[in-house]
Amino acid sequence: MSEKTIDSTLSEQRVFQPPASFSVKARIGSLAEYQKLRAAAAADPAGFWAALARSEIDWHKDFSVALDAGKAPHYAWFTDGVLNVSYNCLDRHLARRADKTAIIFEGENGDTRRLSYADVHRQVCLFANALKAKGIGKGDRVVIYMPMVPEAVVAMQACARIGAIHSVVFGGFSAESLKDRIEDAGATAVITADGGTRGGKVVELKAACDRALAKGCKTVETVIVLKRAGNAVAMQAGRDHWWADTVRGQAEHCDPVWVESEHPLYLLYTSGSTGKPKGIQHASGGYLLGALVTMKWVFDIQDADIFWCTADVGWVTGHSYVAYGPLAAGATLLMYEGAPTVPDAGRFWDICARHKVTIFYTAPTAIRALMKLGEEFPNKYDLSALRLLGTVGEPINPEAWMWYHRVIGKERCPIVDTWWQTETGMIMLAPVPGAVPTKPGSCTLPLPGIDADVVDEQGTSVTDPNQGGQLVIKQPWPSMLRTIWGNEQRYRDTYWAKFSGRYYVAGDTARRDADGYFWIMGRADDVIKVSGHRLGTMEIESALVAHPRVAEAAVVSRPDDIKGEAVFAFVVTKGERPRNDSARALTDELRAWVSQQIGPIAKPDDIRYAENLPKTRSGKIMRRLLRAIARGEPITQDISTLENEDIVKQLQGER
Ligand code: WTA
Repeated sequence: MSEKTIDSTLSEQRVFQPPASFSVKARIGSLAEYQKLRAAAAADPAGFWAALARSEIDWHKDFSVALDAGKAPHYAWFTDGVLNVSYNCLDRHLARRADKTAIIFEGENGDTRRLSYADVHRQVCLFANALKAKGIGKGDRVVIYMPMVPEAVVAMQACARIGAIHSVVFGGFSAESLKDRIEDAGATAVITADGGTRGGKVVELKAACDRALAKGCKTVETVIVLKRAGNAVAMQAGRDHWWADTVRGQAEHCDPVWVESEHPLYLLYTSGSTGKPKGIQHASGGYLLGALVTMKWVFDIQDADIFWCTADVGWVTGHSYVAYGPLAAGATLLMYEGAPTVPDAGRFWDICARHKVTIFYTAPTAIRALMKLGEEFPNKYDLSALRLLGTVGEPINPEAWMWYHRVIGKERCPIVDTWWQTETGMIMLAPVPGAVPTKPGSCTLPLPGIDADVVDEQGTSVTDPNQGGQLVIKQPWPSMLRTIWGNEQRYRDTYWAKFSGRYYVAGDTARRDADGYFWIMGRADDVIKVSGHRLGTMEIESALVAHPRVAEAAVVSRPDDIKGEAVFAFVVTKGERPRNDSARALTDELRAWVSQQIGPIAKPDDIRYAENLPKTRSGKIMRRLLRAIARGEPITQDISTLENEDIVKQLQGER
């Protein structure tokens, strides 16, 4: 986040009260009610969560232990309880809501489908039986690499039904990234599609999957391919099967496999401070509870709502607020496969109007992009069904917040700015919309049971309002990550070491204003958020260095009006430093290379070439200096230790 943005949020004084018309119908309709819940949770956190777990979840066998902290920082919740997540998302609704629409789907080309709870249940059972027929069972890892179609949710739910652990890989990731994730998880099966459609183009998922499997992935025995885009694909006999063939003849009933509460529900790989993504591991019972209660607290989900979260199932938001939370709540969710600008910048609003969406949840980057394209697009559509708006993934600048409030919400809908992470599993800091006044740019206050704080480098609470510090969570919560798959040490080092195991360290910097409201300032580590997507600078650096012409690379971010942050790479080549045409040619090549290595989202926006990178005496790259250069800011750092001061001019692109 740029200093300019921090300044602008620092001077933000506007406060918006929850509209009375919203509060009267809300699940939590007053500040007093919200405070009462928070106080109850603070007085007895484990008891608070245990009571919720009993009222919100259908257990096959009740638990006697709420929280087991014996192996901290590996906290375990509801440990001797037994349940099935898919049962809680589907079967338990069949008595009252069998015919209620569970999923409204719209493809980019306009094809729509409506699936009732009975339909989704049937499809999940068929597919779960298909997985079982391929020998997949409890504890096996299944990688899902699919477009945003209902079958992606069916595949996730089917895994949950039989106790298999899914790991969804975003369809925009490359074959290389897919391979790394399959191998790290030791997956025995991959579920994919021939292709998906985005921006009018077919993304060839099966072909990428073939390339990944050709390079390794020895554990994979089964590949199941959904026919979606209709593009030609190669099928390897014995290994590859069409989805339709695998479900043909299967029974429409599949008993859920009852699992212990701590049984891993899924892995989701995310970027961190090193080159290698980490497999965040979530448990069944605690995660389900987090996804479900936040549907109620933050989204105020009601039976008549049409809930649309625009996130792809490849990200955590698409897990908690597409595949699990809405179904656990018995809600109607909307899924859209394509891009927000096809056929034009009105597509989101057109969908909202046609399907009478009541709750809309998206990323600041989408809001900024659509804001730039003009009010005339949203103004063409009837958005009167909307009652609640949300944002997630990165800080939202007050200007975009105000546009969202005025142009989309017509000053009638509360906005929930929700802070959370892949690791937290559920929304942690956000306004409860019927109760908590909002301020543009602030994710406001912690949810009940979430003990968030801002601390200094010693771990002491920062008491001075508006002074920044590390965002930490001081008490365990049910939907927290359990570990990093196969890397216990990295789990401890990344999240707990900084304050000797006392607090969960989020990796974000934040400040709290005089009202106790949280304002997220940015990341404290080498993670950047490009269009809300989490990327590690080290990951991009290792991709660059893998190119035969690159000797060394350093990646930093610079602010970008729409994407939030943009990727800025400094590169030292082997041999002579490229200039002019040869630099332009290499830049094109490196951008294509990074796309291929990681995915198009990681492509550097700028590349500068220099004979060397600026380093400290101990050999560390001076990233702060590089950031200043990338942002075009004056250089205030001491550069006297640089061997060659000319390097700075080269990095600045001057010579
Ligand atoms: C950032 C996404 C400011 C933050 C759910 C966090 C936010 C990272 C917000 C997690 C928000 C998420 N305001 N920053 N409302 N929400 N972030 O794992 O830096 O993809 O640590 O999870 O996104 O990204 P992840």
